[in-house]
Parts: sequence; C-alpha cells; structure tokens
Amino acid sequence: IEVAEFDLVVFGASGDLAHRKLIPALYHRCADGQVPEGARIICSARRDYSDDDYRQWAREALQEHVSDLEDESLEHFLSRLHYVKIDVGGTDGWSDLKTILDERPDVVRAFYLAVGPDLFGTICQGIGNAGLVTDKTRVVIEKPIGKDGASAKALNDTVGAVFKEEQIFRIDHYLGKETVQNLMALRFANALFEPLWNAAHIDHVQITVAESLGVGGRAGYYDTAGALRDMVQNHILQLLCLVAMEPPESMNADSVRDEKLKVLKALSPITEANADKLTVRGQYRAGASAGGAVPGYLEELGRDDSTTETFVALKAEIANWRWAGVPFYLRTGKRLAQRVSEIAVQFRPIPHSIFDAEAGHISANRLVIRLQPDEGVQMKVMIKDPGPGGMRLREVPLDMSFAEAFKIRNPDAYERLIMDVIRGNQTLFMRRDEVDAAWAWIDPILDAWKASKDTPRSYTAGTWGPSASIALVERDGRTWAEDGL
Ligand code: BG6
Repeated sequence: IEVAEFDLVVFGASGDLAHRKLIPALYHRCADGQVPEGARIICSARRDYSDDDYRQWAREALQEHVSDLEDESLEHFLSRLHYVKIDVGGTDGWSDLKTILDERPDVVRAFYLAVGPDLFGTICQGIGNAGLVTDKTRVVIEKPIGKDGASAKALNDTVGAVFKEEQIFRIDHYLGKETVQNLMALRFANALFEPLWNAAHIDHVQITVAESLGVGGRAGYYDTAGALRDMVQNHILQLLCLVAMEPPESMNADSVRDEKLKVLKALSPITEANADKLTVRGQYRAGASAGGAVPGYLEELGRDDSTTETFVALKAEIANWRWAGVPFYLRTGKRLAQRVSEIAVQFRPIPHSIFDAEAGHISANRLVIRLQPDEGVQMKVMIKDPGPGGMRLREVPLDMSFAEAFKIRNPDAYERLIMDVIRGNQTLFMRRDEVDAAWAWIDPILDAWKASKDTPRSYTAGTWGPSASIALVERDGRTWAEDGL
C-alpha cells in the first residue's frame, strides 16, 4: 500500500530502542523503497548533536544491528535523517521543531515517544503547548503502560489530554510479528480450523514465551516490573486474545479490538483464593547458558532482597461458551533453556480407535504456531508408518517453515508497525479499554502475590523454570508441549 508523505519525529532518538529497533526498521523500509522521497525523519534528543553527529550515531547503530547493509542504501538513508535538540522539560528546541513542521502542515505527522513512560506526560504537553497537533497527527507510545490499572489510567489520561484515541498508537510489538498475524490468516482464511476451534474439540492451549537471556543492563527497570507485568499483561494476553477471539466482522481496527476486549473481559479472575493453585512464580539463580556460567538474578541486580519474578506460569480460563473448561496454560521467563516462543493448540483425542494395540499409541492432533526463532506452523497428525509391514501408526509434523517456504527476509515487527502508524491503521495497536481490561485481570494476581507469604521459587539459569510449573500442568494430566524445544 502506498505510504503518504509524512514527517516522523522520534523522541529519545539516541536511546536504546532507537538504536536496536527504530533506526534499523526505518532503514529497511527506506531500502525497500517504502519511504517516499519527500518524507522526513526528524530525530530528537537532549544531546548536543549536529545532523552529521546524529548520522554517525545512526551509522554505528545500523552497522551493529543490520546484517545486510548496502552502502548505497545506507548513505541514502542517512542523508534523510535530521536532528533537532530538544530539552523536553524546558522550552529549548520546541520552537525549532515547530519551524520545521510548520513548513508542511498538511502531511501526516507522527510523534514516536521512544522514551520511558515518566516522560510521556512532559512530551505530550510540550507537543500540545507548541501547537504541533494537526488533524493528521499521530502519537506512538511504548510499554510499560502503567504498573497497575490505576497508573495506566493516569498515563492514558495524560496522553489523552493532548491526543484523541484515534490518534494514539500503543505499540505491542508482538502484534507486529509475522507469525502472530499469520495466526489470523490461519484462523480466518481457512475453512478447516474454525469449526473445530472450541471446547468440543480443543483440549487446552499452551503459550510459551521463553527467553535465554537474563535481565542484564535492564535490571533497574525489570525489578520494578517482573515477568507478569513485563510479558503477560501485554504480549501474552494479546496472543491469547488472537487465539481465543470470535471472528471479527473485518480486519478493521475496532472490529478486531472489540473481539479481543471481550476475551479479556471473560478471563476468570485469579485472586487470593486461588492464586496458589493457578500461578507459579520463579526467580533464576546462577547456572549455565550457551555453554558458559551465568550469574543469578540477584547478582545481576546487585541486591539480595528482591522478590521480583523472572518466570511465571499461569493457568487461565476463559468463561464463555466457546472456551468453558479449556485451560490456557501460559508461561514466560528469563534465562530459560532456550529462546523459543510458540502457541500450541492441543486437540482432543479421537473418540474411539479402530486399530489394535500393535498399531501403537495414537496421539491427539496438535497445531503449533512458532513465533521464534524459526517462524512456522506445524500440524501434528497420525499416519501409517510407510512400508509393507502391518498397520503401525506414527505421528508426523505437517511442517511449514516460513524461512524455507518463502526465502525472504522476515521483517522485524517494528517495520510493519511504524508503517501502520503512517497509514493510520490501528488494527495492530492496543486500544485504551484493552489495556484497562488486561490490568483488571492482572491486578488481583499482583495483590494475591503481595498478600502471600510465599516468594518466587528459585530455578537454575538455563533450565525450564521451577518444577512447580511442570506440576501445574501435570496435575491436570497434561504436559508442556516440547515441539520447538
Ligand atoms: C519486551 C520486554 O517487551 O519484550 C523484554 O520488555 C523482552 O523483557 C522482550 O525481552 C522480548 O521481545 P522479543 O521480540 O525479543 O521476543
């Protein structure tokens, strides 16, 4: 789809997110010819940079994070970056930005707040006070959106005082991942799955987002968050919504978000009364990862009194007609055995076997949607073991690895999401009421943990987390799927 001319202003342009994600994403879009010649990328931070200094910074970022850099595309991209120094809390710089933007009041204007949430209010007020909001203006904000329902409300009110809801793009980068969107294609562009997509045919669903890295340099932020706020409140609940939602009317932003909202509202509460049965918290201690020794969380943090969870496993239930009685087991953690994220949809066993015992065990079908590292979809089915022997059954994967099937570079989530902002398409962004509903489910879990005398169970770095997480699933006569693992 053609992208209209635009001015994109990145606040926090010398920060970590810009370095790792935004500048590389913009480079790729530009190299692929998706950024019109007239578009301007205006980078802003507090540092005293000239355009050239900033371009040098961006060059280094790209050299570090882009493996297929091409000289010509690189120079062309860098020449399109402009730098404006703004001290967002003061008055310096705002009028310079205004002068630049006022040259073209009619083009799409997007402000990307690649800064910590404590600066959202200051920057939004600065944008408002400088009179920079036009009809075609959008603002992009990143998580964390609050640390509980109340702080999220305050933050959304602050941003909402300057921008209308249709102008606010709350990024959850998991929604921009190729396979996550494929989940929608799989469900709604095939007639095969939807008739089976309910409690009558699905036994349970598992969502695993496992990381092998520790918290490293982010320990300061992470210790105030923990795995539940950092990953479950946003990414994992969004995945759950896409698996569980009713077919939306269309791909229109509000149709999709209305359906996701209904799922969030239907989640059965986890409170002090049942949290010890439905949740498991863990924190990693020293261990080994990728063949080397790695420190524990407390050592990385430099304190020994933290009870922040670096792992969480939950048994969630959706109380509606489609899903009643189907558990959604969710788990995520740092310093686990492997980096792998996947959604496993476990179907029910066949009702009756016509085969004799010699044919072997008949496993129930499983659909596995792998988000990373190697994106793809696998359907586990039973077939006859080939050969002239008797009837022996075997489980095989009908496998589709996207990398092998399409042989194209898999674009990063940010590439798609930034362009969606410019196009004004909010389908893959979280609406305010979704954020509120997600917190409404998370808050009681946090309260229950706070009230409990238990602390997170310790697990060795490089393993699959505390054994209690295995017990959480095995108690129900099930096991964690080990497909990509
Ligand atoms: C971020 C979390 O939102 O997602 C990080 O704050 C986490 O803690 C990251 O590491 C994972 O993203 P990805 O795309 O690497 O799976």
